[in-house]
Amino acid sequence: MPLYKETARDVYLKAGSKGVALHCDPLVKRGFEQPQWYLDKRSFNIRIRAETVKQFLGDLKFENMLDIGCGDGSISVPLLTPNNRLTLLDMSETMLSIARSRIPSELASQVQLVNDHFMQARLAPRSYELIICCGVLAYVDDTRSFVEKLLSLLKPGGSVIIECTDSSHPVSYLGRLVGRTRSLIIPPKFPLVLHSSSDVIRTFTRLGFRRCGAFRYSLPPPGVRTLLSQDSLYKTVRAGFGTPSHNRFPWLGDECIYHFKHADSKGERVVGSESRALAVKD
Ligand SMILES: C[S@@+](CC[C@H](N)C(=O)[O-])C[C@H]1O[C@@H](n2cnc3c(N)ncnc32)[C@H](O)[C@@H]1O
Repeated sequence: MPLYKETARDVYLKAGSKGVALHCDPLVKRGFEQPQWYLDKRSFNIRIRAETVKQFLGDLKFENMLDIGCGDGSISVPLLTPNNRLTLLDMSETMLSIARSRIPSELASQVQLVNDHFMQARLAPRSYELIICCGVLAYVDDTRSFVEKLLSLLKPGGSVIIECTDSSHPVSYLGRLVGRTRSLIIPPKFPLVLHSSSDVIRTFTRLGFRRCGAFRYSLPPPGVRTLLSQDSLYKTVRAGFGTPSHNRFPWLGDECIYHFKHADSKGERVVGSESRALAVKD
């Protein structure tokens, strides 16, 4: 039976019981074609991601940027200036049109919109100095191929900012337990692919990346998320975990945002108007 005829609950239960990741792109695409459930309930987290990306980058300037799974554009559109270019890529047409509506009209000619699956998208090799990818790895079952393609698009010495949920963290275990119980009543839209943060770091390191920024935090538990406003949720996370420059209790966090730089083949040159690479311990 083709996957798209299965319900999300069927796929979720199968994935859970076999402990394997299933290819569920049609379900993911369908889930994000009507993205209000995500945009309304996770705007506090989108804000944290956008601020983290800005803080990682500081004064660095990039001429050509790519945002994979750009969603509503909140993370990368604010990085647009009259002097750079941005490619917004998302397989959800709806998300991409929301992202388009955020682009200031005077900068519209500097933005390319790509409505495609990342692994199928035809993008110019070695053309981006900065690639952002937040909230996408949870739908990627072959991380190695994904990161290899990402690397093929990056200019030598370029930067990648990637987000993942650390599946090996106790907070993540608890979240899955709640999710499994909830799925008996409300079928999930799609299953999530599990990645541990150490696997993600290992994949990037083996491909020649060096980690130069990290921010770890956890989302408030599901029950609390329904009670508090988005603004209060944002303040709760900030009060508990601080900011990338002062990350409190990172060991309590299963949400990870990493900044990686790729070593230039000629040496450790970092692309950007100012090199402020810092070695970061896990
Ligand atoms: C959880 S949202 C994250 C959006 C945004 N990056 C953020 O952090 O708020 C995931 C987005 O990635 C898109 N997406 C997931 N897998 C993708 C893929 N393989 N290729 C392109 N877009 C993808 C979805 O359509 C969705 O808009």
